[in-house]
Amino acid sequence: KTPPAQPRSVFSIQIVEKNAEPEMTLLTYLRRKLCLTGTKLGCAEGGCGACTVMVSRFHSNRNAIVHQAVNACLAPICSLHHCAVTTVEGIGSVASKVHPVQERIAKAHGSQCGFCTPGIVMSMYALLRNNPQPMMRDIEEAFQGMMRPMIYNMILFSLMCRGKAGACYMITGQKEEKGDSTNSVQQLFDPSEFMPLDPTQEIIFPPELMSLSKQPLRELRFIGERMQWIQPSSLKELLQLKAEYPAAKLVVGNTEVGIEMKYKNQFYPLILAPAFIDELNSIQYTENGIVFGASVTLTLLGNVLHGEVNKLPSYKTEVFQAILRQLHWFAGQQIRNVAAIGGNIMTASPISDLNPVFMAAGCKLTLMSKGKINIFFLNLGSKVVCYRKTALKPEEILLSIEIPYTRKYFSAFKQSPRKEDDIAIVTCGMNVVFWEGSNIVQDIQLSYGGMASTTVLATTTRSQLIGRQWDEEMLQDACSYLTEEMTLSPSAPGGMVAYRRTLTISLFFKFFLTVQQTLNVNPCTGVCHHGGCGYKLWRTPLHAAVPPGQNMDDVIGRPIMHLSAVKQATGEAVYCDDIPCYKNELYLALVTSTKPHAYIKSIDTTDAMAVPGVVTFVCAKDIPGSNKTGPVVYDETVLADEKVTCVGHIVGAIVADTPAHAQRAAKAVRISYQELQAVIITIQDAIANESFYQPTRTIERGDLTQGFQESDNILQGEIHIGGQEHFYLETNCTLAVPRGEDGEMELFVSTQSTAKTQALVAKALGVPASHIVCRVKRMGGGFGGKETRSTILSTIVAVAAHKVKRAVRCMLDRDEDMLVSGGRHPFFGRYKVGFKKNGKVMALDVTYYSNAGNSMDLSLSIMERALLHMDNCYNIPHVRGTGYICRTNLPSNTAFRGFGGPQGMMVAESWINDVALSCGLPAEQVRELNLYKQGEYTPFNQCLEQFTIDRCWRECMNISDFHQRKANVEQHRWTKRGLSIIPTKFGISFTAAGALVHIYTDGSVLLTHGGTEMGQGLHTKMVQVASRTLEIPSTKIFISETSTNTVPNTSPTAASASSDLNGMAVYNACKTLLQRLEPYKAKNPKGFWEDWVCRQTYFDRVNLSANGFYKTPDLGYDFETNSGHPFNYFSYGVAVSEVEIDCLTGSHKNLHTSIVMDVGKSLNPALDIGQVEGAFMQGVGLFTLEELRYSSQGYLYTRGPGMYKIPAFGDIPTELKVSLLRDAPNEKAIFSSKAVGEPPLFLAASVFYAIKDAITAARAESGLIGPFRLDSPATPERIRNACEDKFTKLCPPPEPGTYTPWDVRV
Ligand SMILES: Cc1cc2nc3c(=O)[nH]c(=O)nc-3n(C[C@H](O)[C@H](O)[C@H](O)COP(=O)(O)OP(=O)(O)OC[C@H]3O[C@@H](n4cnc5c(N)ncnc54)[C@H](O)[C@@H]3O)c2cc1C
Ligand code: FES
Repeated sequence: KTPPAQPRSVFSIQIVEKNAEPEMTLLTYLRRKLCLTGTKLGCAEGGCGACTVMVSRFHSNRNAIVHQAVNACLAPICSLHHCAVTTVEGIGSVASKVHPVQERIAKAHGSQCGFCTPGIVMSMYALLRNNPQPMMRDIEEAFQGMMRPMIYNMILFSLMCRGKAGACYMITGQKEEKGDSTNSVQQLFDPSEFMPLDPTQEIIFPPELMSLSKQPLRELRFIGERMQWIQPSSLKELLQLKAEYPAAKLVVGNTEVGIEMKYKNQFYPLILAPAFIDELNSIQYTENGIVFGASVTLTLLGNVLHGEVNKLPSYKTEVFQAILRQLHWFAGQQIRNVAAIGGNIMTASPISDLNPVFMAAGCKLTLMSKGKINIFFLNLGSKVVCYRKTALKPEEILLSIEIPYTRKYFSAFKQSPRKEDDIAIVTCGMNVVFWEGSNIVQDIQLSYGGMASTTVLATTTRSQLIGRQWDEEMLQDACSYLTEEMTLSPSAPGGMVAYRRTLTISLFFKFFLTVQQTLNVNPCTGVCHHGGCGYKLWRTPLHAAVPPGQNMDDVIGRPIMHLSAVKQATGEAVYCDDIPCYKNELYLALVTSTKPHAYIKSIDTTDAMAVPGVVTFVCAKDIPGSNKTGPVVYDETVLADEKVTCVGHIVGAIVADTPAHAQRAAKAVRISYQELQAVIITIQDAIANESFYQPTRTIERGDLTQGFQESDNILQGEIHIGGQEHFYLETNCTLAVPRGEDGEMELFVSTQSTAKTQALVAKALGVPASHIVCRVKRMGGGFGGKETRSTILSTIVAVAAHKVKRAVRCMLDRDEDMLVSGGRHPFFGRYKVGFKKNGKVMALDVTYYSNAGNSMDLSLSIMERALLHMDNCYNIPHVRGTGYICRTNLPSNTAFRGFGGPQGMMVAESWINDVALSCGLPAEQVRELNLYKQGEYTPFNQCLEQFTIDRCWRECMNISDFHQRKANVEQHRWTKRGLSIIPTKFGISFTAAGALVHIYTDGSVLLTHGGTEMGQGLHTKMVQVASRTLEIPSTKIFISETSTNTVPNTSPTAASASSDLNGMAVYNACKTLLQRLEPYKAKNPKGFWEDWVCRQTYFDRVNLSANGFYKTPDLGYDFETNSGHPFNYFSYGVAVSEVEIDCLTGSHKNLHTSIVMDVGKSLNPALDIGQVEGAFMQGVGLFTLEELRYSSQGYLYTRGPGMYKIPAFGDIPTELKVSLLRDAPNEKAIFSSKAVGEPPLFLAASVFYAIKDAITAARAESGLIGPFRLDSPATPERIRNACEDKFTKLCPPPEPGTYTPWDVRV
């Protein structure tokens, strides 16, 4: 049937879509069809929240309009019949009026790169539409599942300023009062500026949609290119269709099916959408429990259960409470708003969070097919036959599930790498019933997810425990039974075998203690229940930032808002993929290798070329110039020609009319390979095969033999530091536009390096660099990942554009980006350290190995920086550091915030911690004893001048109340607290920079410099520098973009030094212009800027355009002779962190962090604090959470936010104090400032060593004293395994070498 033409409303515009394509998501529709680019694509799998919009629907059965935050990337356009969609553009704009949410997030510095900002704005907006008086926990919940790699606290700050009643001021209609805000927030922004909510701005739900929704449902059919979508109007119709088309796929929230289609190569030609069928949405109360229709969403399920828990006696609702606990940690709100209970059951995922609870509770499923009803109790066995397959007959559907009131006692547990919005490692539901008046088990159900290919019931354990008393003896036996029953193959998918097995008994132990506590046998269990967060936000007063008397127009040192913040909050800021499409523009998708090391035998594109819209396949022979590329040495190819050397090696690309066609065709390209040996994936493989890049670097000072002789003790140790994915929210993106003449090409690129992009594209196209222009407006994050690796994609897109002679665009999908672009180098450190009994370190011999991957890229410089930071802040009289760069069959690793420094310092903190443990001394005492002093020399013979680490240390000790905090620590058997203080010293040096400044005769100034804007606020700082130098208000100065035709031959925006270098270049250019204007100022000293630059300068032929250049003086270090200066100066900082670990599960909670950072005289304290927080949290990810997981053949499993977790709001320390050191001017950089981008990252090691401190306390309970190895990141698995106890003994790790592990540590 032709779908009826129905009006659709998109932010107050009615759009009639006659040909809705069932395969198209709302996000694609908004961005590509409507050119509404405020809604962003960050992951396409519901994991980042960048695509959040508000969907409103009138529910005629409830007679209510419901507004919900939804992920547009998973919402099929066909599912939105009769819905109103509100996007970020719809709630406010710079041109009209910004919404209070947009205003707050911008003015309170809650937006850095801005790519996730529209999503955050829309989450908050949807929350406020439903709940105008949100409390902190509501805000926390609204942000679950949102990724925000740069700025954490600032977002919370901006949204949580409250009135006296606890509600948001913006909602109550009052204006905020000056100074009536959390602590000293008002010093970074002025809340009195914030407008209260203007109700006239709120969009009303379109009345015509309300009347349409009241009409009886009609069957809808949408017929697409290769797929059909049917929305039946009744249960009868649905069952009839299912009988006719048994293979048809039911879709409700599409949160599972959408992922299968996008990422798992599944295709369903016929979709049945039963979301609006009454029977599947009904909620009925019975004598035994509540019956939920299968299409009831998880949000509604939660709301109903909440209501019951509040109404009914607690003993009746233990199952409901357990479900609510699981739902709290289940995905983000956008997913829960659309995902249905039936979808979770029927997906039959072995790590479903709800199925174990439903099984342990004995929930009743009602299945239905045409003319038949089938009842099934889940505790009588699973309805699942194998991995993700149910025993449902093809024509059957799930009608409903009955959730019973409790048969006492009931608990559910979920353990995942990250607490918030993460998939489970092990999840379980546990139910025990005792004979009346006794503690004798009448029945027990233990149901586990994550321990097999399906959710499983521990039936043998159950039969053994029935009739037993609930006591210690039973516990011991239960653990033995569970250990025998819950086994896993050592190669089991998901890995972590020993940990998962330990969890089954640790979680049972928690259940045991919880029941005992309720039975009142053991009221104090010492078991940890990490709950919600409850942040305490704190700021150091900023009164020292600007000296008294500084002119109000002088913006240096003031917390000026990021210049694009408002546009970012309204979605008007333009990122690379937001540039409107060119006429006849084509899209490119990559074809990558599936083998780690192989010759390419043949490439068959027959099937690919048959996909509609495909124009061409691009391969190495299409490159007109050179296929050789690389940022320093040309040791890699743009497109693999004969050989591939990693999984993800780019072999070719498909160019087609749409992204969907290009991606479908790219998957259809068949490559045959001849596999090669050896396959080297890990650092250990490389060491065994001596697979190293040259040169090997060494830094040596003093006499090691003498140092070890002078030592009282010598210890040896090792630490492995895992890599890290950049996870910039905006993936790599390039738009290449051939200019038609002389091989000219214009490129719009998301890159930190315009000059490198230009040079490498020119090389591949065989044209002079002068014919290529590279332009960057802004990036949605970079972190080093777009310094060199972005050039590969831009070169391929340029080659394709050259071939087809049309504009070609490519924005990588998240999984492709993670697969091909490399990340932070994993490091392995091995050390031998000699020390005195008091902890004074005398000698250190340390060897570093980095995993560089299949090309050199920047690995040599990264290893050099690691070696130059091997001392961290400690004076080591005799020292030698050696660095090996491992060549492996992984995608090339590259620059990442810190650039080897964090890895170098992490090894230092490992040996100093070992020294303290070995001496039995407090770690802070040993650290302090070994700290450098002013005027001492580093191992590379650089004198430490203007040394502030001692001041940072003392101030941080004070602010954190370190000693009191330590004295207050109360330790319990299964919950331990740990505390740590960590210093950092980070060397700053980089090359040179340029700037170009034009003054126009109307007085406006166009500023261009060589640095790119990726959220760090570089453009804002450069405008501040120009404003002070030219002595004009910053509003007269404009930065449009960075481009190679304005400032040539620039260094990449990297190494934290861009403000230093570009700032000086801008300063120099402005000074030149001021000199030229001097005569006009002298003639008219009382005049204004406009008077001096007015038309007279034009007639006098004064050049009002000047460039500036700056190079860092006296740089240059020689590794051969250990002489010269590698750094211009150092940035310093100190952090104290306190954590609490759950010894049974390995979870931890970040309780407190204090940071004191020396940023010199801050150019902009708001931006600098944002950088400190952002870097610290990125470090928290590096050292405690983020884990890239590879197969032994180099296949990357973690290719999206589903499996790779960066820190969420819940990972922010409950109390975070960030303070900038006062009175510490730095004479070596612009206006006495200091670099800030990278240095604070390492301070997150304080969290790692606080965790290690807590583990030390846990190990002491088992009699384990002294140094032990803890690799980074300190994941729950590592923490649990290190807390050795009777449970871990029951589940020893499999013997290495006897099996092929699912994953390897690279
Ligand atoms: C970012 C993200 C986070 C997630 N986090 C979690 C998590 O923390 N815990 C967890 O357990 N899951 C999680 N999931 C998985 C998923 O969200 C849930 O399984 C969800 O409940 C699926 O519901 P849906 O309506 O979207 O299913 P859909 O994708 O619409 O359908 C899923 C399956 O169920 C079938 N189905 C649906 N209704 C019926 C019916 N009435 N009869 C028969 N078959 C039916 C469909 O045919 C399909 O096979 C997550 C998913 C995403 C994308
Ligand atoms: S793009 Fe939709 S959640 Fe990430």
